[in-house]
Amino acid sequence: MKIIKADNYSELCRTAAKIIIEKVTHADKINLGLATGSTPIGLYCFLVDDHLRNHTSYHHVKTFNLDEYVGLHPVDRNSYHYYMREHLFHHLDLLPENIYLPNGISLDLDAECEQYESLIVNQGGIELQLLGLGRNGHIGFNEPGTSFQSKTHVVALDNSTRKANSRFFDSIEQVPQHAITMGMETIFSSKEILLLVSGEGKAGALQRLLEGEILEEFPASILKKHPNITVIADNAAIGSN
Ligand code: GLP
Repeated sequence: MKIIKADNYSELCRTAAKIIIEKVTHADKINLGLATGSTPIGLYCFLVDDHLRNHTSYHHVKTFNLDEYVGLHPVDRNSYHYYMREHLFHHLDLLPENIYLPNGISLDLDAECEQYESLIVNQGGIELQLLGLGRNGHIGFNEPGTSFQSKTHVVALDNSTRKANSRFFDSIEQVPQHAITMGMETIFSSKEILLLVSGEGKAGALQRLLEGEILEEFPASILKKHPNITVIADNAAIGSN
């Protein structure tokens, strides 16, 4: 694992943005895997700012999001469809037909998972996958104990994850109980991974990632085996690591 240390959150985001802009600028076409949560928000601001200033084009980019809540309509303010539109998609020149997220309101969730997995494979796989890190080591919504061989699937969210994400909702009761997420193998199959870790709240998870064993109990640990992964962490997350 290559580790880049950033002084603070802003530098972390700027560093990640540079890597993505470089790839997007030099590729004829590229499939990006995108993440939600608080961590990538600053990075998305840098991408939007760069698009406005330097006219970096996203016409040749396809995006595939990691996950979506089950039961939230795309116009729901807490859905990841909404989040992505607000923070990124509305502001870039991505072609609407090149934007993919799991459909959390599908009437047949298992079929939706299979289709999403096939879609990624049929589109040639993901070149660069962006990831955040859950405090319990989850990536996407793959909670502790998820098989490293898993493909896109429906998960029951951990109470700790629902609690952590309840800050975006009016109350924890409103946080959905389930989500669709790319599986561990889906994520691991990406050619390159960029893992962003920010803030002291993530220090324990980062330490476990760097020093702990590779166990399904700590999903992110498998990333240590990935041939092309860069971790960008800020000082607060690195702490005394
Ligand atoms: C959420 C998302 C993940 C995200 C993680 C960390 O539950 N499903 O994709 O990376 O938790 O979120 P944050 O960046 O807000 O700490």
